[in-house]
Amino acid sequence: MVSSKVIVVIGSPRRGGNSDTLAKQVVAGTREAGAEVESFHLHEMDIRPCDACDECQGDASADCRIPDDMQPLYPKLRSADALVIASPVYFFTVSAQTKLFMDRCYALESPQGSALKGKRIGIVLTYGDTDPFTSGAVNALRTFQDAFRYIGAPIVGMVYGSASKSGEIRYNQGVMDRAYELGKQLVHLD
Ligand SMILES: Cc1cc2nc3c(=O)[nH]c(=O)nc-3n(C[C@H](O)[C@H](O)[C@H](O)COP(=O)(O)O)c2cc1C
Repeated sequence: MVSSKVIVVIGSPRRGGNSDTLAKQVVAGTREAGAEVESFHLHEMDIRPCDACDECQGDASADCRIPDDMQPLYPKLRSADALVIASPVYFFTVSAQTKLFMDRCYALESPQGSALKGKRIGIVLTYGDTDPFTSGAVNALRTFQDAFRYIGAPIVGMVYGSASKSGEIRYNQGVMDRAYELGKQLVHLD
């Protein structure tokens, strides 16, 4: 059996925080299903904003010219079967760390489409407010939906829940179980 490769990016500065805790559940589910998984904490990486040079848009193999920590990620993203993005809600949408990563995925676009096209996508989102609308969680979820619809990558599942203190999402057994299941679904599409 060919192993499935999964890349997980975490857009919170808090290791052991809520989105990281759910991301670890997703990782556990993907491993249970036999996948190879690599996780990246975006806050600890040097990821600069897109400078709109458009050099990456020339041909399908051209990546971004900015010499930062996206460079080792591009080939991993190209060869992955699935991508998981875990973010807290910051000021009514995704965190800046997550948004920088998403903007820089522009470099994977070409006239032939995105190198992420067809990859299976998992979304993890946590927020402090209890209401997904007033928290801004819906804005973040819509951002992911619009982006991956444009890219042509199916979102297999979106796991989201409310928690404030670092890591307290672990007491929400329902969302923890959903995150684990999402991991398995990302590898076995059933
Ligand atoms: C800078 C900042 C902005 C935030 N903005 C929001 C917000 O707009 N809506 C909300 O519900 N929670 C907001 N929160 C709370 C976080 O989304 C919440 O604590 C989340 O669980 C943090 O996830 P983490 O532990 O993975 O970092 C904010 C927290 C910070 C630090």
